[in-house]
Parts: sequence; structure tokens; C-alpha cells
Amino acid sequence: MILTVGNVKGGVGKTTLAVNIAIARALAGRDVLLVDGDEQGTAAAFTELRAGAIGAAGYTAVILQGAALRTQVRQLAAKYDHVVIDVGGRDTGSLRAALTVADALLIPVQPRTFDVWSVDQMAALVREARAVNDKLRAVAVLNAADPAGKDNDDAAAALADADGIACLDVRVVRRKAFPNAAAHGRSVVEQAGQDPKAVAELAALVAALYDGACISR
Ligand SMILES: Nc1ncnc2c1ncn2[C@@H]1O[C@H](COP(=O)(O)OP(=O)(O)O)[C@@H](O)[C@H]1O
Ligand SMILES: [Mg+2]
Repeated sequence: MILTVGNVKGGVGKTTLAVNIAIARALAGRDVLLVDGDEQGTAAAFTELRAGAIGAAGYTAVILQGAALRTQVRQLAAKYDHVVIDVGGRDTGSLRAALTVADALLIPVQPRTFDVWSVDQMAALVREARAVNDKLRAVAVLNAADPAGKDNDDAAAALADADGIACLDVRVVRRKAFPNAAAHGRSVVEQAGQDPKAVAELAALVAALYDGACISR
């Protein structure tokens, strides 16, 4: 499966979720290609840090942008079990290219008003992409959510209204474990003294994406 983690909004957790998902699949024995489609190169920098820290990243990472992202991913996809594409936080050629080749789009959304608004922009991009890529499934997930409270539910309700985008019944809460693990080139699963809640939320997200039943259009 080719998964794009994308949102026109920056700082919503795209790279955090992309690398954690890629590592989770790699740890499950899958051959994973992580594509860094953001000119800021955060996923690639993370992968270098990771390779230095633990010896080998456990997945293959490449930097690809714009039209090259589309053509290269098309060629490379057959060699891997999973491709995870991390894109930048704007409406870029790379995001549009990624949407034309992806099987699924994961849209991380924080339960804050401006972030929820960005989902309408994503819905428009998804509609355009489906004109050339009708297999594209799109799901939003609340990331950096509050541990509890009404803001999560309000955001989830707003997401449920977005046209052509399903809302995953999974919430990834704002937890220190994510930046702490990333600072060591690790996923939350690999971090010493791991946070069991972060691990469980990541596992639920990965299961929803790859074991499939709850992704729909
Ligand atoms: N679930 C989370 N809990 C805590 N911090 C998070 C979470 N998701 C992302 N972050 C933090 O938020 C910031 C932005 O995340 P990042 O993945 O770089 O976003 P993006 O790629 O969308 O710009 C980073 O400092 C990251 O560590
Ligand atoms: Mg990023």
C-alpha cells in the first residue's frame, strides 16, 4: 500500500506519524520505503539520526519531490510491501503528486479550529486527485489530541462533515513520548521506558490503516 501522510497545514504531526508508522511496519517484518517529499527534509534527517543511533534504520528512505516523486514512487512501489510518503505543510507539487499515486491519504488534524478548517482544503485536493486516481481513500485522524474533553469531540464532529474524507475512530493524544523518541531516532515503540499509551495509540492507528476494515471513503 502506498500511504501519503499529508495536510496543507504544518506542524500537525505528519512527519511524526509517518516515521512512527514506517518503523512499526518495518518492525512487523515488512519492506518499507519512506519517501521524504518535504523540502525541509525532516524525515530524511530523522532517518540519518536513526541510522547513526541504532546502526540501521530498518527501512529505506529516499528524498523525492514534485513530478519525480510520482514517477519514482510508481517505479519503486512494486519492490516494497509498503510506501509511506511524508509531504510538506503546504499545497505543493509534491503533495499533489503524492495524491496521484497513493492508495490512501492519512490527514493528521489537531483538535484546534484552524487545523480543522484545513481539512476542507484537503477535501478539495482529494476530489481533484480522484479525477486521475479513483482508488484514493482519505482518512483524517486526530493527532496531538487532548487527553480528554470536548475539543476532541467537536473536532471529530467537524471532520465527520468533510466531504469524501472518513474520520478514523482512533485518537493520538499529545504525549511527550513522540518528540522524546524522535530526538533519539526512534519510534515510541522502541523508546526505553516507553509510554504504553503512546504505543497503544500508534498500534491502533497502524491497525486501522493496514488491517483495513475501518477505512472507507
Ligand atoms: N501526538 C503528539 N504528541 C506530542 N507531540 C507531537 C505529537 N505529534 C507531533 N508532535 C510534535 O509536534 C511538532 C510538529 O510535528 P511534525 O511531525 O514535525 O509535524 P508536521 O510534519 O506536520 O509539520 C513536533 O515537535 C512533534 O514532536
Ligand atoms: Mg513534517
